[in-house]
Amino acid sequence: MMSLSPSLGSPNNLLFREMKSEERGLYLIHLLLSCANHVAAGNLENANTTLEQISMLASPDGDTMQRIATYFMESLADRILKTWPGIHRALNSTKMTLISDEILVQKLFFELFPFLKVAFVLTNQAIIEAMEGEKVIHIIDLNAAEAAQWIALLRVLSAHPEGPPHLRITGVHQKKEILDEVAHRLTEEAEKLDIPFQFNPVASKLENLDFDKLRVKTGEALAISSILQLHTLLAWDDEAMQRKSPLLLKSSNGIHLQRVLPMGQSTLGDLLEKDMVNGYTPSPDSTSSSPSSLTTSNSMNMESFLNALWGLSPKVMVVTEQDCNHNGPTLMDRLLEALYSYAALFDCLESTVSRTSLERLRVEKMLFGEEIKNIIACEGSERKERHEKLEKWFQRFDLAGFGNVPLSYFGMVQARRFLQSYGCEGYRMRDENGCVLICWEDRPMYSISAWRSRK
Ligand SMILES: *[C@@H]1O[C@H](CO)[C@@H](O)[C@H](O)[C@H]1NC(C)=O
Ligand SMILES: *[C@@H]1O[C@H](CO)[C@@H](O)[C@H](O)[C@H]1NC(C)=O
Repeated sequence: MMSLSPSLGSPNNLLFREMKSEERGLYLIHLLLSCANHVAAGNLENANTTLEQISMLASPDGDTMQRIATYFMESLADRILKTWPGIHRALNSTKMTLISDEILVQKLFFELFPFLKVAFVLTNQAIIEAMEGEKVIHIIDLNAAEAAQWIALLRVLSAHPEGPPHLRITGVHQKKEILDEVAHRLTEEAEKLDIPFQFNPVASKLENLDFDKLRVKTGEALAISSILQLHTLLAWDDEAMQRKSPLLLKSSNGIHLQRVLPMGQSTLGDLLEKDMVNGYTPSPDSTSSSPSSLTTSNSMNMESFLNALWGLSPKVMVVTEQDCNHNGPTLMDRLLEALYSYAALFDCLESTVSRTSLERLRVEKMLFGEEIKNIIACEGSERKERHEKLEKWFQRFDLAGFGNVPLSYFGMVQARRFLQSYGCEGYRMRDENGCVLICWEDRPMYSISAWRSRK
């Protein structure tokens, strides 16, 4: 295998074309790892050569490894380009994400995978159990992008023998258009079912969320639902950490700007760093001070956000997160972990959707491709896809004063039945200390856990 790499003249192109899928896959992994090394070391010539080799083998409509390699290749190239902000910005200047694309890609993720549906089943069941006997229910949805979850809940509530409770849903989402759409569908359904219902839209990014806008009132029973959202707040923890210790910035941002200007000379990056250090006067107990005191914008970090949620005293908070390790300190850590977990996601599609499916290509490119790019090419507050494993979340919630609520046997039975009806052997569910891990084969992909404020 290795003997292929030194010379890449035209004869090897022939060799490449004849490679079998597995052989090519292994070789692509080898190339991606060495390319990441070059990128991390700021060695542009070698990165250029390796990217060229990868591009000969990768393909967005090929087999699993060829498809994944395409997005990792793009991400590594994007990371290099970022060392020339002018060029990067120029190439990026007409890029835009259309709301319609965003809605479409979320819909495709919902339809092509069972993950969100299982999360909805378990979340709703945990809410229903926690809300038993309550007459006024308020649910805060931290990612109100999909009406299906709450339509299902409305239907269950409407069948209550003692009449449906009064339900208010506060939906948080960055885009007003998406909230409008969800509000419309839910109001329509509630009218049909004759349930007293209100939708309170809060158009905001999570990190800028004004908790007063959630309008939590005394006398109502509160539930919080967060699906694939909380990890984005870790970006602000990182920002604060880097302000505290500029060395971290250097080591986690492999290439930085040193490659462009000789060492020793002040680079823009160095100047910015100095500025940050000067701007921050360490207090005597700086090691124990809360990172939130260091963030300059109004953005909340994880700790303050969880504390604020705790302060709302929810009867239950149900959290779904990617169960992956994509928040490692170095590019190499993240590349390796992301390769494995996205390989599993792409595998799910490989075994359930045809290779020529346009929908598959869209979800791979517009959802996973963008996530990979964020994990690989971004740093600081720009890097939002900071997926972490369940045990990390356990510690975090515990520290914030939440106690774990085991998911009910009934909820798990429902979810398992749904997964089985999905007709694909690879999808599995694991009960992990009262939480659920949804797996592909033996690899955990998503975690679902429920919490309540410990008094
Ligand atoms: C980039 O790599 C290609 C292929 O190996 C090579 O032909 C080209 O000269 C390289 N460009 C630079 C600027 O090194
Ligand atoms: C690239 O363009 C998009 C869309 O306008 C923008 O959101 C993003 O911040 C830009 N990225 C960079 C690094 O400038």
